[in-house]
Amino acid sequence: MERRRLGRTTLSVTRLGLGLAALGRPGYVNLGHGDDVRGSTDVVGLERRTHAVLDAALDVGIGYLDVARSYGRAEAFLSSWLAARDIGPEVVTVGTKWGYTYTADWRVDADVHEVKDHSLATLRRQWAETRALLGGRVDLLQVHSATVESGILEADDALDALAALRASGDVRAVGLTLSGAGQATTLQRAMVIERDGHRLFDAVQATWNALEPSLGPLLREAHAAGMGIIVKEALANGRLVRGPEAAAVASEAQRLGTSPDALALGHALAQPWADVVLSGAATVEQLRSNVDALRVVLDEAAVAALGALAQPVDAYWRQRRALAWT
Ligand SMILES: NC(=O)c1ccc[n+]([C@@H]2O[C@H](COP(=O)([O-])OP(=O)(O)OC[C@H]3O[C@@H](n4cnc5c(N)ncnc54)[C@H](OP(=O)(O)O)[C@@H]3O)[C@@H](O)[C@H]2O)c1
Repeated sequence: MERRRLGRTTLSVTRLGLGLAALGRPGYVNLGHGDDVRGSTDVVGLERRTHAVLDAALDVGIGYLDVARSYGRAEAFLSSWLAARDIGPEVVTVGTKWGYTYTADWRVDADVHEVKDHSLATLRRQWAETRALLGGRVDLLQVHSATVESGILEADDALDALAALRASGDVRAVGLTLSGAGQATTLQRAMVIERDGHRLFDAVQATWNALEPSLGPLLREAHAAGMGIIVKEALANGRLVRGPEAAAVASEAQRLGTSPDALALGHALAQPWADVVLSGAATVEQLRSNVDALRVVLDEAAVAALGALAQPVDAYWRQRRALAWT
């Protein structure tokens, strides 16, 4: 699979990556999640499923993996897979995140699934937890869902600590992920934060899809300025495949001889500023179907049809917040 350098970092990434948000814990917000993992929601079953999806990703050449402290046992499952398959850093690049703590205790019906706290104390605690599981395998450490309100952009002690982790070589790059209607404001403010005379954040992971493409122009700018760009939620949490908007995607996919998920991921891959587009596959079948995105060629009619699906930013994120954990 084609590799790229992630922005101006030394990290080598493949165009398609795999995120483990839907695999590390029994509950998640993607539309069909409960059905995807039914029958394998105990720890052993989910670890087996995660390893199978990782094996399928490796088979097709995926070389970028995305986890987070808050994805249940995702870091542990990734760690056991890297060891069992003896996978070295030249094969896969790993990004993780700190800032959300998993609180669901392996329950799908938990009242609160994760709690955000972007303080230095949480960074220290979670980095120690991550290091215990993944040792020296973390290439990119990201602030999880940074927002203006979370305070991270003004938390000089935590920002200094991130710069120090990179300077010491504990991680090779530092990034942030975005969420919510304020993605643009957060990225604009993050782009000008500096340490030691250079921009602190090497990379950004952001939501971009046919329903919510509003960040595109700013992601283009960030990419031109040397930031690495990782696209998440390219299928709008499954809404482009299973939701009310799926019919338009399906008819274009059928016309182009591909699947709706591959078309939606291919749409993101076609953005010149997108270095990595994450698959969020919860099953081996989904992963195999997603990979077809690499050979999708969108014509003008497909770009126009997908472009017509864009929603007002606030409406999109209201619906995103209302998704149920299943
Ligand atoms: N704030 C953050 O930092 C943040 C937030 C979100 C995600 N992420 C990262 O981005 C990754 C990808 O995002 P995401 O999974 O949340 O959203 P996504 O890519 O928009 O959606 C992935 C979902 O689409 C559905 N899907 C995929 N292929 C399919 C197929 N062939 N047929 C039917 N359904 C299919 C599956 O959901 P269902 O089967 O359940 O419908 C799958 O879980 C995550 O794993 C995570 O690593 C980061």
